[in-house]
Amino acid sequence: MSKLWGGRFAQTTDQFVEQFTASIHYDARLYPWDIRASIVHCRMLARQQIIRQEECDSIVHGLQQVQKELEAGQLPFRESLEDIHMHVESRLKELIGPVAGKLHTARSRNDQVATDLRLYLRDQVDQLQDGLRRMQGALLDLANQHVETILPGMTHLQNAQPVSLAHHLLAYMEMLQRDRARLRELRFRINQLPLGAAALAGTPFPIDRHWVAEQLGFDGICRNSMDAVSDRDFVIELAAACSLIMLHFSRFAEELVLWSSPLLSFIELPDGFCTGSSIMPQKKNPDVPELVRGKSGRVFGHLFSLLTLMKALPLSYNRDMQEDKEPIFDTLDTVQGSLRALTELIPGISVHKENMLQAAAAGFTTATDLADYLVGKNIPFREAHEIAGRMVRLCIEQNCTLDNLPLTTMQQIDARIDSDVHPLLTLSASVNARRSAGGTAFAAVREALAAFAKSLESESMAGL
Ligand code: ARG
Repeated sequence: MSKLWGGRFAQTTDQFVEQFTASIHYDARLYPWDIRASIVHCRMLARQQIIRQEECDSIVHGLQQVQKELEAGQLPFRESLEDIHMHVESRLKELIGPVAGKLHTARSRNDQVATDLRLYLRDQVDQLQDGLRRMQGALLDLANQHVETILPGMTHLQNAQPVSLAHHLLAYMEMLQRDRARLRELRFRINQLPLGAAALAGTPFPIDRHWVAEQLGFDGICRNSMDAVSDRDFVIELAAACSLIMLHFSRFAEELVLWSSPLLSFIELPDGFCTGSSIMPQKKNPDVPELVRGKSGRVFGHLFSLLTLMKALPLSYNRDMQEDKEPIFDTLDTVQGSLRALTELIPGISVHKENMLQAAAAGFTTATDLADYLVGKNIPFREAHEIAGRMVRLCIEQNCTLDNLPLTTMQQIDARIDSDVHPLLTLSASVNARRSAGGTAFAAVREALAAFAKSLESESMAGL
């Protein structure tokens, strides 16, 4: 088969080289955006009287036919045709004849592939936004049921202070909120039109890039033609944002693994999201969170591949850049899959409140409350800390809890302690004492939940 660029060549391409350079097996997914951009480009050429209206009509009609064939899986892929752009154009030529060749006026594959990729990524970003919002909805539902469920808040994976389970879940709501803000901001930078840069230097034809940008829903045009075909910052930025999303998912997944372990038995995961063991009949393994945790690694790897790919590349387009697609495509597939798995798993989580509460009581988690109480008696915090610490040591020696320590024993350590101390040392008193903005007191958590519910609702009303 003769190449669309074959004019200058005396010999045919080496067969292995065709295989080595082909990208069709992964860039085929760009076809809807390739065709959409080509149709707008073609209409612009006619509007600007660079081609005739009948030529435009025939090209547009032909492209729509190619689209149908691709949708039906009827267009065979050939490595000799390299990539999706060549497949579309060559099929167009088969369908409508030599006039197909006019489509490529005033453009090059360099600005074409950058345009297709930006359109595809924009779409993916919008889907991610939707998906993250749905996951936030699922988290919010769970949190709403567990404002008064108390578990041990941890630092260093050691019991620290009791917190509301809703408060713990709201921490993930915040992470996802930042992820969504990042996506909103980078969407603007993805959404700039490279088409019209042609190979690298612009084109002598009187094209109208602003019209094309408007038709394709871009926010603006890439201002410098060389940057337009060389820039892959938008791919890397998205991979970085996806890495943070996966990092957040991996932390949540890790907690699900820990919480569902018989060591803690804080939660039970839905059967449909777990698997058994081929040898140990009693096992129920948290495979889905484990895989989400594991898949974060490959996404971080893709970010690094992309950075390394682009490092020190001279301007402008280099064929190296074809290698941007597999990492970013796999990144998006992985994030979308993990997002779906977690969102569907969350409503199936059942919480063992009693176990959480019991665990929260272990490890003297209200020792800070005792120190804070002494501060109320005008004792400097450092000194109060020391006194409370001695009390904890005594409890360990006598194998009791802080709120079980008799008042007289406490008073032997410090005479300033009164009978009003005991009610402050219960778990719910401890949680509810933390009323500072952003703290875990039930009332503060209810406010945070209401604020999230309101912002999610107003977003869905605004159709965002
Ligand atoms: N398949 C190529 C890519 O993804 C399209 C651009 C090819 N341009 C070129 N001058 N060979 O980067």
